[in-house]
Amino acid sequence: MSNVKELAGRAAAELVRDGMCVGLGTGSTVHFTLVRLAERIRDERLRITGVPTSEDTERKAREFGIPLVELGAVARLDLTIDGADEIDARFDMIKGGGGALLREKVVASISEREAIVVGEDKVVERLGVRFKLPVEVVPFAAPVVARALAKLGAAPSLRKRADGATFVTDNHNWIFDCTFAEGITDARALDGALKRVPGVVETGLFLGLAHVLFVGRADGRVERREK
Ligand code: A5P
Repeated sequence: MSNVKELAGRAAAELVRDGMCVGLGTGSTVHFTLVRLAERIRDERLRITGVPTSEDTERKAREFGIPLVELGAVARLDLTIDGADEIDARFDMIKGGGGALLREKVVASISEREAIVVGEDKVVERLGVRFKLPVEVVPFAAPVVARALAKLGAAPSLRKRADGATFVTDNHNWIFDCTFAEGITDARALDGALKRVPGVVETGLFLGLAHVLFVGRADGRVERREK
């Protein structure tokens, strides 16, 4: 079986053109995009600058020799390539499995185009049935937010690291991973309600942000879908 993440991640790197400023997503699928971009920089002398969406991606990009700029140095990005935990037919997504949702959403918000790279298992009919929705919260507010999340129909669990310590995001916040008994029926209404809870910093609902999708398939094909 082909590596579906590698297929999708590498294919999307071909969207990048000389001179582009590119948002660099986070995760194990985008890892392959970074590898391919590094190859293109070396082999084609491709000139790009990247804005990373996490400390992890920043480290990898430096290691691979991908030139970076600070977010504050750019008003817009030509393209961002990022992964997703779930994506539906409308290209609405759940992201944040790796904890990078806040920086990913900020970077997506200034991108002309957002390309998403996933293996075929991430394409779903309804969001939130299989994957929990990450919600990033200010630690001080966590007990208050947990009660508010429950009132909105979520069963929140505080994200932990493998060693049992509380997971802390790059922005020094915590994450509640939220289960919904029936999945997410109205993502826009839920996103609005979550954002109105004081102490919620950002949600893993990425709605109307993606333009092009690369799906890696187990048979070795990559399917490209445009919004
Ligand atoms: C990072 O917080 C996430 O939004 C990732 O983009 C998402 O979890 C996809 O990760 P993988 O490519 O590792 O599955």
